Amino acid sequence: MARNKITVVGAGFVGATTAQRLIEKSLGDVVLIDIVDGMPQGKALDMMQAGPVEGYNGTIVGTNDYADTAGSDVVVITAGLPRKPGMTRSDLLAKNAAIITGITEQVKKHSPNAILVCVTNPLDIMTHLAQQVSGFPHERVFGMAGVLDSARFRAFIAMELNVAPSDVHAMVLGSHGDSMVPLARFSTVSGISIEKLMTPERIEALVDRTRKGGGEIVQLLKTGSAYYAPSASVVAMVKSILLDEKSVLPCCAYTTGKYGLDGVYMGVPCRLGRSGLEEILELELTDAEREALHASAKKINEDIADLAKMA
Ligand code: APR
Repeated sequence: MARNKITVVGAGFVGATTAQRLIEKSLGDVVLIDIVDGMPQGKALDMMQAGPVEGYNGTIVGTNDYADTAGSDVVVITAGLPRKPGMTRSDLLAKNAAIITGITEQVKKHSPNAILVCVTNPLDIMTHLAQQVSGFPHERVFGMAGVLDSARFRAFIAMELNVAPSDVHAMVLGSHGDSMVPLARFSTVSGISIEKLMTPERIEALVDRTRKGGGEIVQLLKTGSAYYAPSASVVAMVKSILLDEKSVLPCCAYTTGKYGLDGVYMGVPCRLGRSGLEEILELELTDAEREALHASAKKINEDIADLAKMA
């Protein structure tokens, strides 16, 4: 059987760490592409040389040419500009929209059967755009945010309760931004609801920290944003796809009626397998949770309308 081919677009912090995790897990042969000449080639060669020591046997190549990405099974898009001082959110939206459009056209041309996983922010909008530009079926275009937001919530719960992080399960839905919806009711430690283990005030504090989780890291780093947990999260999704694991993970997916949402890309629990997004699963929400999810959808639709005005 031919090995899987995975392209990572953008060889910056998130892209390079993603490529490293993919190759270390032997999930396939990896192509790392960036517009900067020499940089993806250098990083890929460095990772290739770690193979004999770490014991992985896949290949990784760096390139500036999409011809090298041809026939990819999965393409992860991490390319984009971070927000710089003085730049408004809509400046960033316009700049990253132009980058995602150009990349998606190339991906469509060289890997027409690929599954696209978007990581570039603002995530929900960029995922929507990648689907529109590619024309790929919605099942083959989705974004990574929910796994990361849930991982942050899980880590905070584990730190608070002094339990193994892998025993903690949590669900965060909605937009990847201030209007995300962490669902404490569906968060457990080995099956025990966190509502039995923590006061409502402590839960609220952790929910708030989760919402601001990306910003907390930006403030500490001073330059750049998080990449260890984002890359781990995207690799969990790619693994479930390529190994057909059928993991249920919160992803930025195109909604078609569940949760009363239709036609908007946002964070919902998804079953991921070899054909991509196989099913959106529906949780029974309270009125307040549903309202929060719909408020999140409204915000995403407003951003998409802003983007359309810029075109
Ligand atoms: N094609 C390919 N690569 C590009 C393009 C393009 N058109 N435009 C920019 N890039 C590359 C840059 O050269 C850079 O190497 O994208 C990379 C981005 O890397 P970083 O600046 O290190 O950013 P990073 O921290 O990796 O974040 C990337 O992921 O989590 C999100 O919010 C984050 O949107 C951001 C993205």
